[in-house]
Amino acid sequence: MNNWTRRDVAKAGFALSASVIGGSWVEAAAATPAAATNKAAQAASPVPVAAAMSTARERLLMDRGWRFALGNANDPDKDFGFGKLRDSSTFSKSGEAYGPVGIRDNAVYDDHTWETVDLPHDWAVGLPFVMQKELVWHGGKPIGRAFPETSVGWYRKTFDIPKEDLGKRISIEFDGIYRDAMIFINNHYLDTNFSGYAPPSFDITDFINYGASNVITVRADSSLTEGWFYEGAGIYRHVWLNKTAPIHVAQWGSVVRTEMSGESAIIQISTEVMNESDTAAVCKLYATVVDAAGKTVASVSASSAGQTIASFGSETIEMEARVPRPNLWSPDKPHIYKVITVIEAGGKVIDNIETAFGIRTIRFDIDKGFILNGKPLKIRGTCNHQDHAGVGSAIPDRLQYYRIELLKQMGSNAVRTSHNPPTPELLDACDRLGMLVMDETRQFSSSPEGMSELERMVKRDRNHPSIVIWSIANEERQQGTERGARIGTTMKRLIYKLDPTRPVTAAMSAGWGDGLSTIVDVQGFNYNEKKVDAYRAAHPKQPLIGSETASVTSTRGIYADNPVKGYVSSYTSNGWVQFYEERDWLAGGFAWTGFDYRGEPKPYHLPCVSSHFGLMDSCGFPKDNYFYYKTWWSPEPMLHVLPHWNWAGKEGEEIAVWCYCNQESVELFLNGKSLGSQPVVKFGRLVWKVKYAPGTLEARASSQGKVLLTAKRVTTGSPAKLALTPDRSIIQGDGEDMSILNVAVLDAQGNVVPTADSKITFEIRGPARFLGVGNGDPSCLEPDRPSTPTTAERSAFNGLCMALLQSQSASGDITVVVRAPGLAGVAATIKAAPSKGRMSIG
Ligand code: GAL
Repeated sequence: MNNWTRRDVAKAGFALSASVIGGSWVEAAAATPAAATNKAAQAASPVPVAAAMSTARERLLMDRGWRFALGNANDPDKDFGFGKLRDSSTFSKSGEAYGPVGIRDNAVYDDHTWETVDLPHDWAVGLPFVMQKELVWHGGKPIGRAFPETSVGWYRKTFDIPKEDLGKRISIEFDGIYRDAMIFINNHYLDTNFSGYAPPSFDITDFINYGASNVITVRADSSLTEGWFYEGAGIYRHVWLNKTAPIHVAQWGSVVRTEMSGESAIIQISTEVMNESDTAAVCKLYATVVDAAGKTVASVSASSAGQTIASFGSETIEMEARVPRPNLWSPDKPHIYKVITVIEAGGKVIDNIETAFGIRTIRFDIDKGFILNGKPLKIRGTCNHQDHAGVGSAIPDRLQYYRIELLKQMGSNAVRTSHNPPTPELLDACDRLGMLVMDETRQFSSSPEGMSELERMVKRDRNHPSIVIWSIANEERQQGTERGARIGTTMKRLIYKLDPTRPVTAAMSAGWGDGLSTIVDVQGFNYNEKKVDAYRAAHPKQPLIGSETASVTSTRGIYADNPVKGYVSSYTSNGWVQFYEERDWLAGGFAWTGFDYRGEPKPYHLPCVSSHFGLMDSCGFPKDNYFYYKTWWSPEPMLHVLPHWNWAGKEGEEIAVWCYCNQESVELFLNGKSLGSQPVVKFGRLVWKVKYAPGTLEARASSQGKVLLTAKRVTTGSPAKLALTPDRSIIQGDGEDMSILNVAVLDAQGNVVPTADSKITFEIRGPARFLGVGNGDPSCLEPDRPSTPTTAERSAFNGLCMALLQSQSASGDITVVVRAPGLAGVAATIKAAPSKGRMSIG
C-alpha cells in the first residue's frame, strides 16, 4: 500500500501553487455533511497527480488466457457434471458446487483440454450455420433452447493473488456476458447475472486464496434470447480485476457534471467514498482538473477537517472547481478533460481515480431542435447493433474506434446504441472522436431486473460527454398505454435521480400522444414521418427526434433484387433525410442502420443470414446509399455514380445511372459522348437512362460554371491482381491493437472488378494473429473465424473482402501476404511498435 503523505508530496517538489498552475485550488471552510457542496477557500498544500498514482488502486485487464468449453443446457453429464446430484445438491454447502467451478474432492478441476481463448470472445460466431428458418433472425447460428449442445459456454480463468494483497478490497468487473451467467470463485457461487448487456461486478475479497492460485468460473447460458437479432454468446466484453484500499471510491462513484457560468465552466465533482474497514475513518478529498494536453487547469479540495465515514458506510463528498474559458466538447472538437480525485486518510493518500469528462451544454428546443453549446446542431445519426464481420459481438476496442471513424467520414455525428447499453469502449470512442450518443437500455421495465439494468447503465455511462439523451424503450407493446406510462415514469424517476442533466426519450412506433408520450421529455419517432407534422401541431411543447428512421435495404454492389440469393438492389430512396433536414424544430434522427448486422435478413430469407439495412456492409465497406448520406450530411464536395459498368450481355439495353452530388449540376458522358447535363436538386438524385455499351461512364460536377469533381465507372477486365490496404501500418504491439486489412480484386489496369468473387487467402508472419474475416455478403456461409491464428481464407464479394489482424504482446515487423488462384498476390508490412500494454493479470 502506498505511504505518500502531503508532506512527502510537497518535499518531492510536486506541490503546485495556484499561481504556478494557473488554476484555483479551493478548500471548504468547514466540515460539511455528506452530499453537501464544499465551496471555495484556498487550499494550503494540495496533493498532486504524481502522488496519487502510487495508491493501492489497481485496475487490471483480465482478458488473457481463459479456458473455454461448450457445456450442455439439458444434460448434466455433458455439462461437466454441473447440477448432477452426488452426495448432496448443487448449492447445499458453500463452496462445494460440483462441476468445473473450482476445487472438489481436494482436486483442482482439470481444464487442460479446454480451448484457450482471450477476451472479448463470442462463441456463437465460430459455430457452423444451421439452415433453419427460426434461426435466421438471429444470424443462423445454433443458439437457443433447441440447441442445448451449443448454447451453454463455460469459462475458467486461473490467476494468482499475492499474500500482500490481504487487507485490500478485491473485486471483479465484467463489462458484459451474454447471458444468464452464473459466476463462481474458488467453488463459491457469487451470483447469476440475467442481462446479456448490463455489467455485473462482485467483491471477491472474502473468497480469495492469498499467496496462491484462484479460479473464476463463468457458466453463460444463451438458450433464451433478449433481442430479435444476432446477439452473440459468451464473455464478449472485457473483464477487470480491481484492487483498492478498504477506503476507496465506490464503483461508478465519481460523478463529474459541468455547467457554464459566463465564460467559465463550473465543475461539480461528486465522489462516493466507501469505508470497508472495521473502524470509522476521516477522509480528505482533493481533485485536480487536467485538460487534454495534461495541463492542470483547476484544483480543489473538500473540507480541511475531513469527512467522517462510518465503518462499512459510505458518504458522497462534493467539490466544485472552476475552469475559465474551457475548450468545449463537440463532435468537431471533442475536447476531453479529466478529474483526478485523491482520497487521503490517516495522513496518507489511499486512493485515486481518474474520471474523463467533457464540458458542453445540451438542450432540446421545441423550435430549434438539438442545441449544443448554444447552437443548433442537426443530429445526423445511425442506429447500430454491436456486431461486426469476423468477430460478431466481441468487438475489440480498436474496431470500435474504426467503426466510429467510418461513420464520421460519412458525415454522421450521432449513434444510437440500439437496443442495449453498449460496451464502455464504444462510448470512449464516441467521446474521443466526437460522436453524439443516444444510450438505450435493453429492458423496458420497472421490475427489479429492469431497474437494475437501467441503474447500471446510467451510473456507468453518465460521465460521457458524448451521451446527450437516454432511451428507455424501443417499439414496446406497452408504448401507448397507461401501464406503459407508469413503467416509464418509474424508470424516468430513477434516471433523474442518477443523472438530472439529460432528457429521456422512448423510440415509439405507434401510440404517439398516449402512454409513454405523456412522460418522455423528447418524443421519439420510429419511422412514420407522415405523422410527425400532425403530432407537432397537437403537442407544440414537446421536442421531437427521429429515434429510428430509414430501414432501407440494399446489398453492396447489387443492382437488382435477387430473392434466390437473398440480395437487394442498391437503387434506394431516403426520403427521411430531407424531411428531417428541412424542419428546424426536429432534432434530427438515426437511420436504421450504419452497418449491416447478422440476423434480420429482411426482405428475404435463407440463405441470407444478415441484414441489409446498413449504409455500410458488415465489414464497413460503403454501399451506394452511404454516398447519398455523405452527399447531404458532410460538408465535403461530393459526386458519386452508380451502378458499376460491367454489364456484358446487356449491350444496347437501358440502364438507370444515378448520381448523388451536392454541386450545382452534373453532366454525364459515355465513352466521351455527353448524355446531357442536369441541375442538382437538394436531397435528390440525378437519373439518366443509358443504353449500355462497355467503356467509361464519366460524371462531371460543376458549380459556378467550373467543373469541380469527376467520377468514373469503367468496364473492367477480368481479375488480374490484388490490392491490400491496411487501415494502419503502425500498430501497438500490446496484444490488443489491430490493423484492418481491406483487400480488393483488380483488373490488369488497377480497376476494382465489381463482380469478382476470387478466393482470397491471408497469411501472416510476425507477432500478430487473425481474429476473423468477412466480405459483406449477407448470404455468405463461409466461416468468420480464421483457419489458424496465422492463416485465413475468404471469398471476395463484389470485388472486396477483409481480414482483422491483431497484434501480439510483442514488437516487430508483421508481413501480411494475400493471394488468390491465378492472380498476382500482394504483401504489406505492418509494424508492431513496442508497447507495455495495459496493466493486466495472467
Ligand atoms: C424496427 C426495430 C429494429 C429493426 C428494424 C428493421 O422496427 O426497432 O430493431 O428490427 O425495425 O426494419
